[in-house]
Amino acid sequence: MAQGTGFGKTILFGEHFVVYGLPAIASAIGDKTIATVEKSSRFELVDNRPATSGYKEKKSGEISRQIEALLSHFNIDRKNSPVRITLSGSLFCTSGVGASAALATSISRALNDMLGLGMDDEGINKAAYIAECAGTGKASGIDNTCSTFGGLLWFKKNLEGGANTMDRLVAKGPVEIVLGNTGITQETKAVVGDVAKEREKDPETYRRIFSDYSSLVNEAKSALTEGDWVRAGRLMDQNQELLRKITVSCDELEQLIKLVKDNGALGAKLTGTGRGGYMIALTPGKELQEKVASAMESAGFKALRTVVG
Ligand code: MEV
Repeated sequence: MAQGTGFGKTILFGEHFVVYGLPAIASAIGDKTIATVEKSSRFELVDNRPATSGYKEKKSGEISRQIEALLSHFNIDRKNSPVRITLSGSLFCTSGVGASAALATSISRALNDMLGLGMDDEGINKAAYIAECAGTGKASGIDNTCSTFGGLLWFKKNLEGGANTMDRLVAKGPVEIVLGNTGITQETKAVVGDVAKEREKDPETYRRIFSDYSSLVNEAKSALTEGDWVRAGRLMDQNQELLRKITVSCDELEQLIKLVKDNGALGAKLTGTGRGGYMIALTPGKELQEKVASAMESAGFKALRTVVG
């Protein structure tokens, strides 16, 4: 029997923009998926991960494509050398928290261990990226990179196909955040595809939005490393404005954003795929974090208190 883990993640700046080669800032979160792999008489996937209602059903196609890609990458023949894969861990699966990347990373680590391949983190990240692309289509690689390496990362996809840029950032922190769950599950592939169509329809507007985002993310990097949380929060709000423009917000996310801002969060935006999933609020200090998280829970939303940086 072999085991592997993969971190969940949250994107502080740059979901969707990162698909087009612009930099993004993301962080692993403490919650993880754990994969256990063992030889069995038939192939089996036992998914014990905690999840938003309907998540596993809606993601079943994506999960199957990921598993097929991983079995093929690790040369595992479902019929002649079947395995049982059991998924568990504290990462609560819903859109926006990198659950599919955590699945891919944890299974890659477990298969690597079972087969004694001695892969390093680069090899694990590559395997997880192959699974991410099989599952979600044109993945940027940010989710699997966070899931594999952990920490706070500056990530830029290499659109020419060479190595991506991944720099570790040290925030003048760590700083408290709250993640709020809308309970809505989205297919990343569909939402990324819609953005691509909108961009094709109106390239000039998108060029302006992308240019605004590029300036913003560079300023965000300085704000985080200098610990200027007020400026970081304002930039998160501005990032959310750009995400609205590219049509990836929704009423439920906006309701959550208004709620946390009314309760003192310094900034708030969707995180990940959007049109549901998670919202991230910047809430430096335990007191503000608790105030914002409790307000969300009183309004009936699930809140996750954690730190980044
Ligand atoms: C999903 O967590 C982030 C997206 O930017 C897709 C990707 O980067 O592959 C929406």
